[in-house]
Amino acid sequence: MIELPLLPIKRKLKSIAVLTSGGDAPGMNAAIRAVVRFGISQHIQVYGVHKGYSGLLEGQIEPLYASSVANIIQRGGTILKTDRCEAFFEKSTRKEAAHILERKEIDALVVIGGDGSFTGASLLETETGFSTIGVPGTIDNDVAGTEDTIGFDTAVNTAIEAIDRIRDTASSHDRIFLVEVMGRNAGYIALLTGVGGGAETIVVPEHRKPTKVSIDAISKTVERGIKRGKSSSIIVVAEGNTPGFTQLIAAELEKKGHAAKVCILGHTQRGGTPTAHDRHLASVMGASAVMYLLNGKSNGMVGVRDDKIQLVPFSKVIGKTKPFPDEMLRFAQVLAV
Ligand code: F6P
Repeated sequence: MIELPLLPIKRKLKSIAVLTSGGDAPGMNAAIRAVVRFGISQHIQVYGVHKGYSGLLEGQIEPLYASSVANIIQRGGTILKTDRCEAFFEKSTRKEAAHILERKEIDALVVIGGDGSFTGASLLETETGFSTIGVPGTIDNDVAGTEDTIGFDTAVNTAIEAIDRIRDTASSHDRIFLVEVMGRNAGYIALLTGVGGGAETIVVPEHRKPTKVSIDAISKTVERGIKRGKSSSIIVVAEGNTPGFTQLIAAELEKKGHAAKVCILGHTQRGGTPTAHDRHLASVMGASAVMYLLNGKSNGMVGVRDDKIQLVPFSKVIGKTKPFPDEMLRFAQVLAV
């Protein structure tokens, strides 16, 4: 079980702020709650920044109290709202953000988000000296330096539940289904959904080049299944960054005589009640962020490795590719006979 690291207090913090940035993920609210309530337990005033970095630039900053985060641990989305802020790519904008925070006498900023959000946080600290710390919140689990991100487990469970339903129709009608899950650059959702949902094959962005080869391989898998007497198949496809890729596979399969239905799960995977796992992860990670700040650490992300919380410098996170577990993909294929 992941536990809160107990660290000596080396820095006095009067007040900190927390924001959510990038795509929302189930469990973000549990993380906000942990930052607020753990902060209060350490006599820190916690401020909530609305609408990510855009709200920060507009000064949308309000004090949060223990009661402000009551009854949110079970809710998906983020009570603070979120966005993807292009303006934060500008150095002058980040300087202005630091001024806004300092004028409010805020000592540090907790950023709950993914790689892009951490880029902003890291540059903010490096350029202005304002302390920032990251908490990984994204359904994609594509952040380097951590084995798990808040929202990933919930998204996988949502997708598996959908596959269980689709399988009823697939087997009743002897159909092939292509189920598209999220993951623009990473196939983690597809991999775990495919393994847990018993998919015949799994298509991930990491293994997608060249496209033609992928389609031939999928087709061969379907044909092998038919030869062994399978009358229905579930193929899990990560959306990747080629719009319409799943439909393309369906069209190619059709040309080879295998009509397939496409079901795109889309944003259904982003919302909903966080699982127990995500609530626990978010609670520990949120509190750990405050703990690290009190310990005098910043410019890094709270990550998890071998069930232990660790602080990973942003320089080892941002822009880094998380290695994909190819073995697991091969294992899924072995089980799909
Ligand atoms: O990063 C999370 C994610 O859900 C990706 O899997 C997906 O490609 C993207 O966000 C969608 O973003 P948006 O909701 O902004 O369209």
